[in-house]
Amino acid sequence: MRCRSYCCAVLLCLVSVVPVPGFGQQLDVWSNGSQHPVPLKADTPDTKCTECHSDIDKGKYVHTAMITGCASCHQIRNKSGVTHVNLIAPVAQLCLNCHPLSKEKVLHFPYQKGECIVCHSPHASDFPNHTWASTQDTCLGCHAAARLRVNAKQKTAVVPWGITLTAAQLQGLQYLGLNETLTANHPVAGHPVSGPNTALGPNAPPITCLSCHNAHSSNFAHLLPKTPPDPDMPLCKSCSLCIDCHRNM
Ligand code: HEC
Ligand code: HEC
Ligand code: HEC
Ligand code: HEC
Ligand code: HEC
Ligand code: HEC
Ligand code: HEC
Repeated sequence: MRCRSYCCAVLLCLVSVVPVPGFGQQLDVWSNGSQHPVPLKADTPDTKCTECHSDIDKGKYVHTAMITGCASCHQIRNKSGVTHVNLIAPVAQLCLNCHPLSKEKVLHFPYQKGECIVCHSPHASDFPNHTWASTQDTCLGCHAAARLRVNAKQKTAVVPWGITLTAAQLQGLQYLGLNETLTANHPVAGHPVSGPNTALGPNAPPITCLSCHNAHSSNFAHLLPKTPPDPDMPLCKSCSLCIDCHRNM
C-alpha cells in the first residue's frame, strides 16, 4: 500500500492511497468466544473483575458507562466448565446501543462502520473523551503516512496506539501532504494544522484538525463544520469557515 503522491492544482497537496479490496479480519475477537483464563461465576461482582483488571478504569477520563458496570457491555457465559467473557453485542453494534449514529449527511468512515474503539477506549484513558491518543495524534495516526505503519504484505496497518486495521477498514483513506513535523501544509500550502492560532491572537485556542473538521459527522463535505459556498471552489475566500479566522480575507 505505497502511496502515489501527486500535487493537484496550485494550492492543494494531498496524497492518495491505493485502496486495497476488503477482507475479513474482525476487531471483535472477544465476542467470538475466546476463553477467559480463570473460571468466573455468572454473578461475579465488578469489584472482583477490577481486582485482577486493576488498570481497566484508570485514566483521567473514564467512560461514563463504567458507572453502570462491566455487565453493560460484557456477559459471562459458562459452558462445559469453560468461562467466556463475551460482549453483549458485536463490537460494531455495541456502542450504537447507547450512542445512535448521527443523522447528518456526511459520516466519517470509521465512525459510520461502528469502529468506535479504533479511536476510543471503551473504558478509560488520559485523553478527553477517552480517546487512545490526543485528538491531533488520533487524526494523524491514520491521515499521516509517517504515522501509520503499513504492512503491504499482510495488507494491514497499525496505528501508533497499537490497533491493527485491515485494508477494508481504511478504504478510501487519504494521507495529507503535510510538512515533516506534521504541523502545516493543509488545506493549502503552508497552512498550519497545529500550534497557536496567530490569525486570531494569543487568547484563541490552538489550531487542531478539529478547528476545521468534525470528528464524526457533518452536513457538509469533508466533515467541515460549515459549507464552502461553492462546491467547485472549496477554498474560496468567501467560505465562512475561513472567515472565522481570516476576518479580512
Ligand atoms: C461500554 C462498554 C464496556 C464496558 C462498560 C466495559 N467494557 Fe471491557 N471491553 C469493551 C470492549 C468493546 C472491549 C474490546 C473488545 C474487542 O476489542 O473486541 C473490551 C475489552 C475488555 C478487556 C480486554 C482488553 C483489555 O483492555 O484489557 C477486559 C479485560 C475488559 N474489557 C474488562 C472490563 C471490566 C473489568 C469492566 C468493568 C469494570 C469492563 N470491561 C467494562 C467494552 C466495555
Ligand atoms: C482472578 C483474576 C481475574 C478475574 C477475577 C477476572 N479476570 Fe478477566 N482476565 C484475567 C486474565 C489473567 C486475563 C488474560 C490477560 C488479560 O487480558 O489481562 C483476563 C482476560 C479478560 C478479558 C479478555 C479475554 C477474554 O477472555 O475474553 C476480558 C474481556 C475479561 N478478562 C473480563 C473480565 C470481567 C468482565 C471480569 C469480571 C466479571 C473478569 N474479567 C474477572 C483475570 C481475571
Ligand atoms: C450502556 C450504555 C452505553 C454503552 C454501551 C456505551 N456508552 Fe458511551 N456513554 C454512555 C453514557 C450514559 C454516557 C454519558 C452521557 C452521554 O454522553 O451520552 C457516555 C459517554 C460517552 C463518551 C463521552 C465521554 C464520557 O465518557 O462521558 C464517549 C466518548 C463514549 N461514551 C464512547 C463510547 C464508546 C466508544 C462505546 C462503545 C465501546 C460506548 N460509549 C458504549 C453509555 C454507554
Ligand atoms: C476517528 C476517530 C473516532 C471515531 C472512529 C469515533 N470517534 Fe467519537 N470522538 C472522537 C473525537 C476526536 C471526539 C472529540 C470531539 C470533539 O472534541 O469535538 C469524539 C467524541 C465522542 C463523544 C462525545 C461527544 C459527542 O459527540 O457526544 C462520544 C459519545 C463519542 N465520540 C462516541 C463515539 C461512538 C459511539 C463512535 C462509533 C460509532 C465513535 N465515537 C467513533 C473520535 C472518534
Ligand atoms: C482509523 C483511521 C482513521 C482515523 C484515526 C481518522 N480517520 Fe479520517 N478517514 C479515515 C478513512 C478510512 C477515510 C476515508 C473515507 C472515505 O473517503 O470514504 C477518512 C476520511 C476523512 C476525511 C474526508 C471525509 C470526506 O467525506 O471527504 C476527513 C476530513 C477526515 N477523515 C478527518 C479526520 C479527522 C479530523 C480525524 C481525527 C479526529 C480523523 N480523520 C481520524 C480514517 C481515519
Ligand atoms: C484550516 C482548516 C483545516 C484544518 C486545520 C485541517 N483541515 Fe482538513 N480540510 C480542510 C478543507 C477546507 C478541506 C477540503 C479541501 C478540498 O476540498 O480540497 C479539507 C480536507 C480534508 C480531507 C479530505 C481530503 C480530500 O481531498 O478529500 C482530509 C482527510 C482532511 N482534511 C484531514 C485533516 C486532518 C487529519 C487534519 C489535522 C491534521 C486537518 N484536516 C486539518 C480544512 C482544514
Ligand atoms: C482555525 C483558524 C483558521 C482557519 C479556520 C483557517 N485558517 Fe488560514 N491560517 C490560519 C493561521 C493561524 C495562519 C498562519 C498565518 C497567520 O497568522 O495568518 C493561516 C494562514 C493562511 C494562509 C497563508 C499561508 C502561508 O503560506 O502563510 C492562507 C492562504 C490561508 N490561511 C487560507 C485559509 C483558507 C482558504 C481557509 C479556509 C479553508 C483558512 N485559511 C482557514 C488560521 C486559520
